[in-house]
Amino acid sequence: MKTINWGILGTGKIAGKFATDLHTVAGSQLVAVGSRSLESAQAFAKENNASTAHASYEALARDPQVDIIYIATPHVRHCEDSILCMQNGKHVLCEKPFAMNAQEVEKMLACAKKNNVFLMEALWTRMMPFFLFIEEEIKSGKYGHIQTLTADFCFPAPFDPAGRLFDKSLGGGALLDVGIYPVFFALALMGEPVEILAKAKIGKTGVDEFTEMTFIYPNGAKAHLNGGITQQTPTTATIILDKGLIYVPTRFHHSDTVTTVHDGVKLNHDFSHGERGYNYEIAHAAQTVREKKTESNLMTHDLSRLIIKTLDRVRAIIGLQY
Ligand SMILES: NC(=O)c1ccc[n+]([C@@H]2O[C@H](COP(=O)([O-])OP(=O)(O)OC[C@H]3O[C@@H](n4cnc5c(N)ncnc54)[C@H](OP(=O)(O)O)[C@@H]3O)[C@@H](O)[C@H]2O)c1
Repeated sequence: MKTINWGILGTGKIAGKFATDLHTVAGSQLVAVGSRSLESAQAFAKENNASTAHASYEALARDPQVDIIYIATPHVRHCEDSILCMQNGKHVLCEKPFAMNAQEVEKMLACAKKNNVFLMEALWTRMMPFFLFIEEEIKSGKYGHIQTLTADFCFPAPFDPAGRLFDKSLGGGALLDVGIYPVFFALALMGEPVEILAKAKIGKTGVDEFTEMTFIYPNGAKAHLNGGITQQTPTTATIILDKGLIYVPTRFHHSDTVTTVHDGVKLNHDFSHGERGYNYEIAHAAQTVREKKTESNLMTHDLSRLIIKTLDRVRAIIGLQY
């Protein structure tokens, strides 16, 4: 198996977790990191065993030893940072949300095409075994159609007006940070809704602190979704179908168990994994690059397009502009 050499762009919280999981993936190795400051790059490289620390994102993008770069900067930088890497011939795995709006996503996809490189949104849930299982169960048809899907992701973040979650200039707010997971869940399993209802609580920094959404489908099916950054909710997902239900317990976006009830028979399914779960997206991206493909067959460009288009629709309803 060809070893894929990774670079990490940005040295924040998620970058560290990703690096830890990367070391567990066979055929992938972390070779370089890029930061806006040499000190952060060096500290991160030391802690996470990367051989090269770059004092700028440009230097990382130009590093010839790197095959693929993981973008771990705030949302507002995703488009610019991904394009920098792709223009330097690098494959890119970019954190969610892929970008701030559909126009930015289209720019990124056009750049990937022009440079013939792999580009994928790092929506890690898509590659996790529990999610693939749910997808297969529903596709089997044995449960009939989805009637209702309910999913929530809210947590109480400490209020920091200058932090990424509350600062509007960094793309703050619940919808793009955590609301995206319930939105992804509904879109991946139910497709594009015909109608969306949405309401938000806009906080004092001008970002949505809580957003609730209802997606309505042509057959009458509904998805009830919410995301928030000021309070805790169960953070579970429940799918009610004609002939049963599928339940994902708390932190549903990276669960290692699923409960199904089909024709009255309840079963618990175990998908325990030793790592945080980023290993699945890392292995999948690396394998897709190895196969010289420029698009994932799971987290497709069209799925990313649908997610950002839907987030744009919700933002238009709740009046949230960046
Ligand atoms: N998949 C997941 O489970 C998951 C979890 C958390 C976050 N995320 C996503 O990952 C991204 C980063 O989140 P995070 O929680 O890691 O953020 P964070 O801790 O604030 O780190 C972001 C990093 O981006 C760089 N950066 C560049 N410009 C910046 C600016 N103007 N302000 C602050 N930082 C800047 C910094 O690295 P340097 O100083 O080294 O340049 C910083 O350390 C977000 O888009 C978020 O949605 C995903």
